[in-house]
Amino acid sequence: MTSLPGRQVRGFLSLRKGRAPSLQGRRRVLAISVHEAGIIYRVSMLILNKTAGVFSKPSKRKLYEYLRSFNFHPGKVFLHKLVLGIETSCDDTAAAVVDETGNVLGEAIHSQTEVHLKTGGIIPPVAQQLHRENIQRIVREALSLSKVSPSELSAIATTIKPGLALSLGVGLSFSLQLVNQFKKPFIPIHHMEAHALTIRLTNKVEFPFLVLLISGGHCLLALVRGVSDFLLLGKSLDIAPGDMLDKVARRLSLIKHPECSTMSGGKAIEHLAKQGNKLHFDFKPPMQRAKNCDFSFSGLQHVIDKTIMQKEIEEGIEKGQILSSAADIAAAVQHTIACHIAKRTHRAILFCKQRNLLSQSNAVLVVSGGVASNLYIRKALEIITDATQCTLLCPPPRLCTDNGIMVAWNGVERLHAGLGILYDTEGIRYEPKCPLGVDISKEVGEAAIRVPRLKMKI
Ligand code: KG4
Ligand code: ZN
Repeated sequence: MTSLPGRQVRGFLSLRKGRAPSLQGRRRVLAISVHEAGIIYRVSMLILNKTAGVFSKPSKRKLYEYLRSFNFHPGKVFLHKLVLGIETSCDDTAAAVVDETGNVLGEAIHSQTEVHLKTGGIIPPVAQQLHRENIQRIVREALSLSKVSPSELSAIATTIKPGLALSLGVGLSFSLQLVNQFKKPFIPIHHMEAHALTIRLTNKVEFPFLVLLISGGHCLLALVRGVSDFLLLGKSLDIAPGDMLDKVARRLSLIKHPECSTMSGGKAIEHLAKQGNKLHFDFKPPMQRAKNCDFSFSGLQHVIDKTIMQKEIEEGIEKGQILSSAADIAAAVQHTIACHIAKRTHRAILFCKQRNLLSQSNAVLVVSGGVASNLYIRKALEIITDATQCTLLCPPPRLCTDNGIMVAWNGVERLHAGLGILYDTEGIRYEPKCPLGVDISKEVGEAAIRVPRLKMKI
C-alpha cells in the first residue's frame, strides 16, 4: 500500500455533512458482528473525544451520520469511500484504487512504450489490441493489491475523453461491464481534468490555481477554479511538445544510441542534452510576436529536421546514423522549447493576476504531463515563478505521466463535489476530441500582455 504524505487521517477526523440515516442505513449499522461492534465502539469513542470540545453533548444523529459514511466488512474495515480508476486513453493500461482521503490502496500499470518505440510511434489498432490483452489483468492486480473486491467500491471512474478512439473504447466497455455486474455508480473522467487535479492528492492546493499540462498528446494552460471548472487560456495550435521531442529523437536515431535505447524521445533528448552545448545551434522560439498563451511546435520541428539533414551532409553520414553533433542539437532543442513554454506560462500568470483570477502573492502554478518530468524545463519555469512570486508545484514523475491513480482521484474529487456521478450509463460514449473548460484564449490574446524579458540562465 502506498501512502501519500499528509493524507491518511484527513476526512477520518473531519465532520461530514449528510442527511439523517435512512431506515435501511440504520439497519445496516445495527446488523453487525461483535468484531465490528468493537471497532464501532472505538471509532465512536474517538469521535466523541474529538467532538467533545465542539458539542457539549454529541447527538445520536451526528454519530449515526458518521458511522453511516463508513463501509463495514466482515474481517476488514474500510473507513472511507473507495474509487477504482481505469485509464486507457493512449498507450498505458492503468488502474488504481484510491480512498477518499487520497490513500492509494493499490495500483497497476502496463506500459506499451517499448512496443511503440520499435514501430516508431503509436499505431492505434496495436494500442487497442494491447489494451484488450492487458486490461483485465491490470484491473484485477490493482484490486487484489488493494485487497478490495469490486462489490466494496463506492464508484468506478474511467477516462472517456479525450484520447485515441480505439484505446478509450477498450477502457469504457470494460468499465461498463464492471459497473453493470456490480451495480456501481460510474464517473466518466476527462483525461486532462485528471492530470490537473492530481496535485491535490499529493499537496494541499486550494482552488484557484494555474495548470500547465505538457505531454506527448497535450499542451495547454488553464486556470483551475474548481473540480470541473476550468478556464482554458491557451493550447498548442499543432502538436504537443512531447510529440515533437519524440519526432526529433527518432530523426536523430537516438534509439540506436547505447545510453538512450530504452528511453522515450523526451527523456533521451534530456539525457543527451546534458552532454551538449546549446549555443552551437540557434533555433528561434516559435510565435514570438503573438501575444497570447498558445503554443506551436511543428514549425520548429521542421527547422530542426532541416538542420539535421544539413548536418548529415556536412558530416558525410546517412540518415539513420547518429550525428556527432546530436548532443548539441538536443541541448539547443530543449532550450528552445523550454523558453517557448516559459514565455507563454509567464503571460498566463500575468493575465490571471491582472484580472484578479489568481492571488497576487500566493498564486500556484502546477506543471504536469510526461514533459513535466524534464528538469531543464522545470528550471525554466522556476525562473518565471520566482519572478512573479508564484509557487511552482509538480506531482512526482510517476503521477505526471498517465496512470490510474489520477483517474481514481478525479473520481474521489467528483464524488465529494457530487459532480457527474452516473447511476445509469445508457448512451454513454467515449469522445476522442473534447476541449477542457471554457476557452478564453481569444480574450487572452486580445489583452496582448507584454512579457518582460528574463535571463534564461539554466
Ligand atoms: O503524459 P505522458 O506519459 O503521455 C501522454 O502523452 O499523454 O507523456 C509522454 C510524453 C512523451 O512524448 C515523452 O517523450 C515525454 O512525455 N517525456 C519527456 C520526458 N519524459 C517523458 N519529455 C521531456 N523530458 C523528459 N524527461
Ligand atoms: Zn496524459
